[in-house]
Amino acid sequence: MSDGATARGSATEREEARKTAEGLEHLSGFGNEHSSEAVPGALPVGRNSPQRAPLGLYAEQLSGSAFTEPRAENRRSWLYRIRPSAAHPSFTRTGNGALRSAPFTQTVPDPNRLRWNPLPDPDEGTDFLAGLWTLGGNGDVAQRSGMAVHLYHANASTRRVFSDADGELLIVPERGGLLLRTEFGMLHVEPGHVALIPRGVRFRVELLDETARGYVCENYGAAFRLPDLGPIGANGLANARDFRAPVAAYEDVEGPVEVVNKFCGNLWAATYDHSPLDVVAWHGNHVPYAYDLRRFNVMGTISYDHPDPSIFTVLTSPSDTPGLASVDFVVFAPRWLVGEDTFRPPYFHRNVMSEYMGLIEGAYDAKTAGKGGFVPGGGSLHNMMSAHGPDRETFDRASAAELRPQKIDDGLAFMFETRWPVSLTPQAARAEHLQQGYDDVWRGLERHFRPLH
Ligand SMILES: [Fe+2]
Repeated sequence: MSDGATARGSATEREEARKTAEGLEHLSGFGNEHSSEAVPGALPVGRNSPQRAPLGLYAEQLSGSAFTEPRAENRRSWLYRIRPSAAHPSFTRTGNGALRSAPFTQTVPDPNRLRWNPLPDPDEGTDFLAGLWTLGGNGDVAQRSGMAVHLYHANASTRRVFSDADGELLIVPERGGLLLRTEFGMLHVEPGHVALIPRGVRFRVELLDETARGYVCENYGAAFRLPDLGPIGANGLANARDFRAPVAAYEDVEGPVEVVNKFCGNLWAATYDHSPLDVVAWHGNHVPYAYDLRRFNVMGTISYDHPDPSIFTVLTSPSDTPGLASVDFVVFAPRWLVGEDTFRPPYFHRNVMSEYMGLIEGAYDAKTAGKGGFVPGGGSLHNMMSAHGPDRETFDRASAAELRPQKIDDGLAFMFETRWPVSLTPQAARAEHLQQGYDDVWRGLERHFRPLH
């Protein structure tokens, strides 16, 4: 999708966007009741909806939870904007591109272990929205349950604005920095960071490098939150203070702006006569945020064995069953391995949960790196109860290794772990970049069993 920018113009725009991105201020903390105003006096004091909002702005509430959900679950923000969101023409259906939604019923759920290479390069003029490509997922958008795994590849910035009524978007860049211009202000993310756009929040994506590539978890269910820490205590894993929310920043643009809304699985577009990113002030806790995964405080054993990988949970979307996540976002960040008499890489296992893994950089310690393996921008799917674990080479090496303290610092991998099996889209099941012969990585795991008698 092109906005007609020339390559030269795009380079200048990228430079300007990068300058903007690197100078951004932010608000600090996860789930806070933030407030911000881009113009002094724009935020009403002592009430949400005065008879006349300051500076001739319109007051508007954006609800991310039902009005009556418990306080700890309740998400909403008040926006003070140049025009109310209601001032728009009708939406009409537009093409979904390679974006798909739950229920995913077009392929037979596959128990096989699957692995993909990165997406091929996109066509010229592909923006973030046009570059979204759905691998699969579960649940049902209309039931507000489940999730989708998307990948994206882009090489253009456009002015069109996107919002997702179906869920929140957890964006995991693997290549190329992004400047996210949202209703609440701007966020800057680079590979190794994540950004979250809440349900319904409008935004557009400007590229800070020539190309951008990464992953998106579209979470249809309960909003992501930090996991409880239990006996870990008051600190650790992803610390709340390291989450960045934007400060208010608005566009005062009169003129045609294409706005695309994802609703119950389809894209709908309307041409506004102004930019809807026109929020001058806001307060609330239904806000976009970003987080640098390198800030993750990794916990692990200091005696023997591995804790389960749930110890690496950054964010969790709970279900109605305590401890059973609809989807967890888990990171495998640089860390020390010191376990005594312990097989150091991740163990062999079969899991009732389904695991989609991606790689942001480097290598993952259960898989040998290299072409045709588990590579940055690629991904693997180990669905419910599929048996997996270290590949043969990793098993042999780790079984013979001398057990000195060992720093794992050459990779950043992550997992979207979900309670339901992930069904594939036809495009993922038949993709040219779907690797053939992934099972072979576990071939040749020889028998070593020798009964004493
Ligand atoms: Fe696993």
